[in-house]
Amino acid sequence: MMTLDDLLDDLAAYVETPEEACFSLPPEAYLSPELNDLEVREIFEKSWLCVGREEYVPRLGDYYCIDLLDEPMVIVRGTDGAVRALNASCRHRFMPVVQGKGNTKRFVCPYHTWTYATDGRLIGAPHMEGSRVFDKASCSLPEYRLEIWKGFIFVNLDDDAAPLEVQIGPMDRATGHYRIEDQTEVFHYEMTWNGNWKLSAENSMEYYHHIGLHAGTVGVQMPAKGTYFPDSPVNDDTFTHERCMVGEDFLGGADHPLNPRGDLTGFTQEELDTGYLVYIFPAFTMAMRAGTNNWLSFRPAGPEKTEVLGGYLMWKDLVVDDPEITEQRAELIEKVNTEDALATTELARMMRSRKAARGPLSPFEKTIAQFYKYLGRTLSGDRVQRRQAAE
Ligand code: FES
Ligand SMILES: [Fe+2]
Repeated sequence: MMTLDDLLDDLAAYVETPEEACFSLPPEAYLSPELNDLEVREIFEKSWLCVGREEYVPRLGDYYCIDLLDEPMVIVRGTDGAVRALNASCRHRFMPVVQGKGNTKRFVCPYHTWTYATDGRLIGAPHMEGSRVFDKASCSLPEYRLEIWKGFIFVNLDDDAAPLEVQIGPMDRATGHYRIEDQTEVFHYEMTWNGNWKLSAENSMEYYHHIGLHAGTVGVQMPAKGTYFPDSPVNDDTFTHERCMVGEDFLGGADHPLNPRGDLTGFTQEELDTGYLVYIFPAFTMAMRAGTNNWLSFRPAGPEKTEVLGGYLMWKDLVVDDPEITEQRAELIEKVNTEDALATTELARMMRSRKAARGPLSPFEKTIAQFYKYLGRTLSGDRVQRRQAAE
């Protein structure tokens, strides 16, 4: 059995290994509680994580609760219009002040009815007059860092983290033509997948598996053989990307229901004729074509479970004008996600075999090699330096 030390040495070795010479991670990397703890501490608790879309809180007072790595939070659009992420634990004696989702003008704690405004301020606390330590102003619900990018809500548990722009800027520039800000969610996905988050992540950054897993769904439209890689970024610690040339029947604006529709101004021919898969570290992915976006956000719930949140976006005006297409696409994406979920759970089931061993990555999985290099630099930076110094 590999120890955490072994696993970190192993990750460090990826940094200098050419992409075409990379194997997958060893099985232990998907099972180790110690590695999972380190990933949570060094990656997830310091990164911007996507927790949903603005469409989930369109009106003043709309809210929904989410457990983010055991942090109980409520995402709420305050009566002032601002979206915030508040800690949902009562400042009196820890009761969750709200659960589930809904719309409200204030949060009333069900335990002793302390009452909070939608911006987190405590506005009522019965029978506290005689207390010598009660100070209303210092009893607001604590706030987490939150930023919104093109409708996606991101939260960071690290109060000192750099702004979201640092993490997503390069991806933002690469995807500008896709006008994600003009899209809205037509299909929502929330599920627990039984397997390590890295299995889900890897699955969502390559088109190679379209040849098998998605042969009956999106494999014809975007065949594995169409995979190719844009020149940049190389070893960028913010994201990886790859493109897939669509199948012949879908090329050149052919009138197929799965082809781009609506206002396609501003797209290059390449963007019209390819799928574009973008994986933003650590755990957010968008599979796009012109006018659509199938996104997923992952977070670990222990080493062998992944919380998955996602959705499918389409042009806002198309959703109104063409409800039939919207429905067809939503059905398709549900099938595709079910296939991807199956991949994670089936892989996870094999990891414990005494004969399980890692295998070589395909050149079509260069993005996975880049992901491992990112893990190596992020988790094993000191070991990478030692290796370099020793050479
Ligand atoms: S715990 Fe919330 S009012 Fe007492
Ligand atoms: Fe997939």
